[in-house]
Amino acid sequence: MSDPITQPSTEAPPVARRRTTPSILPLSLEGVCFDARGKRLIHDLTFTLDAGPRTIILGPNGAGKSLTLRLCHGLLTPVGGHVAWEGAAPGADPLKHQAMVFQRPVLLRRTVAQNIDYALKLHDVARRDRPALIEDVLNRTGLARFAKSPARHLSGGEQQKLALARAWATKPEVLFLDEPTASLDPAATHAVENIIQTMHGEGTRIVMTTHDLAQARRLADEIMFLHKGHLMEKTPADEFFDAPRSGEAAAFLKGELRW
Ligand SMILES: Nc1ncnc2c1ncn2[C@@H]1O[C@H](COP(=O)(O)OP(=O)(O)O)[C@@H](O)[C@H]1O
Ligand SMILES: [Mg+2]
Repeated sequence: MSDPITQPSTEAPPVARRRTTPSILPLSLEGVCFDARGKRLIHDLTFTLDAGPRTIILGPNGAGKSLTLRLCHGLLTPVGGHVAWEGAAPGADPLKHQAMVFQRPVLLRRTVAQNIDYALKLHDVARRDRPALIEDVLNRTGLARFAKSPARHLSGGEQQKLALARAWATKPEVLFLDEPTASLDPAATHAVENIIQTMHGEGTRIVMTTHDLAQARRLADEIMFLHKGHLMEKTPADEFFDAPRSGEAAAFLKGELRW
């Protein structure tokens, strides 16, 4: 079966052509803390993300990966510290330039095409421009034949591809992904990773969590290793897998740190 993801067209598609806005990066977090029910869950998180590499946020279950991503994307408000999109122009809405994909896709009870159309509408894309963008992104994610199907009738892997297609259509400068393949089989995981790689190749800044070491090795340029709500290190991937700086990361790499 022909797979548009593994056999990309040589012609630059509309989605790839369309990023013209100035950068909102770098993203900087300074002393960010987050509490729930009187307990500190994220401690003094300080780091900067510049344009370029694929960052994988790695750590065992409960390390604080999802909370960190939600703090970056503005879904949670820190109890202390600051989150800033330093490149954002005054008055601009940084949310229009970023997207987030979750482990379990959140889809509207509408058709596949309508799910993407709605996202484009929220991004102020004119109605007449939407069909071409929708068709292009459905072709590129292998979902064209489902355009008129109810989104909720898709398989788990197809739903996740739709979540990615929806994000892709809006051409985010930054894409946050929270364990996007954790519920998927190997074939769907491969397809989703290919979409992520293609988006990265077109200039989208990838920031993704995983607890899966093999996936981190496949995708990462840089690793942020979290443990018990602390950022233990932010290290180029080669260096991290060769010689991690923190004892906790060394233990995790040896399979000794599960919780
Ligand atoms: N709303 C909440 N109330 C209480 N504890 C929470 C809440 N959200 C997350 N936690 C706890 O914070 C820790 C980090 O959570 P999370 O970021 O989801 O971890 P990860 O994504 O690395 O598995 C976990 O121990 C989790 O149980
Ligand atoms: Mg999580």
